[in-house]
Amino acid sequence: MIYFEPKGEETSSATTKIPFVVSITSGKGGVGKTNISTNLACLLGEKGYNTLLLDADLGLGNVDVLLGITPKFNVLHLLSNEISLDKVLFKTDHNFSILPAPSGVMELVSLTPGQKLEFLDALDPLDSELDFFIVDTGAGINDNVLYFNMATQYRIIVLTPEPTSLTDSYALIKVLNQHHGVNDFFIIINMCAHENQAKEVFKRLYLACDRFLKGVSLNFLGFIPKDNKVVEAVKLQSPFCKKFPNCGASLALNRILDKLLTLKDIKKQIDGNIKFFWKKLLLQG
Ligand SMILES: Nc1ncnc2c1ncn2[C@@H]1O[C@H](COP(=O)(O)OP(=O)(O)O)[C@@H](O)[C@H]1O
Ligand SMILES: [Mg+2]
Repeated sequence: MIYFEPKGEETSSATTKIPFVVSITSGKGGVGKTNISTNLACLLGEKGYNTLLLDADLGLGNVDVLLGITPKFNVLHLLSNEISLDKVLFKTDHNFSILPAPSGVMELVSLTPGQKLEFLDALDPLDSELDFFIVDTGAGINDNVLYFNMATQYRIIVLTPEPTSLTDSYALIKVLNQHHGVNDFFIIINMCAHENQAKEVFKRLYLACDRFLKGVSLNFLGFIPKDNKVVEAVKLQSPFCKKFPNCGASLALNRILDKLLTLKDIKKQIDGNIKFFWKKLLLQG
């Protein structure tokens, strides 16, 4: 069992939870996924939501670096059955837990089909405990990234105004859509100069998907400005939303959080019977 300290009304009164399972992903690396995932988890923890952050960038994970922590165990210990789930989960100082990635492994760790199933089983006990399960994926279109994006209920694609970020996001959406039947994507534009620039980037991605892909739905979740406080917080190995709660990036992330919470409420009514995420993959074979 993992221990969470519920603070919010919703968590203290809830008996059976339905986790909101979302991956935070991108076509290109270095666009801010880990910063967004970690800080979102912090804000959710602060509000009392039972939140687990899975560092799924296997091989290059750095949630631990951002938080200045050194977890003893990681996903690979769990998969090799050496260590039980409750020991692998690391409780942060910000009222959320992380399932750490292996660190110091420079090459990508590819999960075998057997490991994917084991993973599913190992996480099963969390089904009724979590409000939010955030999966911080690697970048690109490798097996792990595709797997985690297929396995989650919702996907947030992070991109920046750089042209390569736009083309790589499109490539990821295309593969997920054409080869894996994924249609719905939420979009965050990070590191932009102003809102209009973010909307312009979103529009370009939207038009490309609308023109060349069938049935893809893109939802603009928000934008985060380029903000030196983020860089400063990374150097201090502390979440920017805690260190600088009133900086532009923190205010923007709070707006995104509000939208996510609204979405969770709406989806709870619609998907009342959704259980946990990897189950879905099993059922599809
Ligand atoms: N909104 C932002 N403003 C300024 N710098 C940012 C912002 N978001 C991320 N960064 C910087 O970009 C770098 C990459 O971020 P990271 O979250 O590690 O990306 P990813 O996980 O996508 O590889 C970090 O060093 C961070 O300082
Ligand atoms: Mg990362």
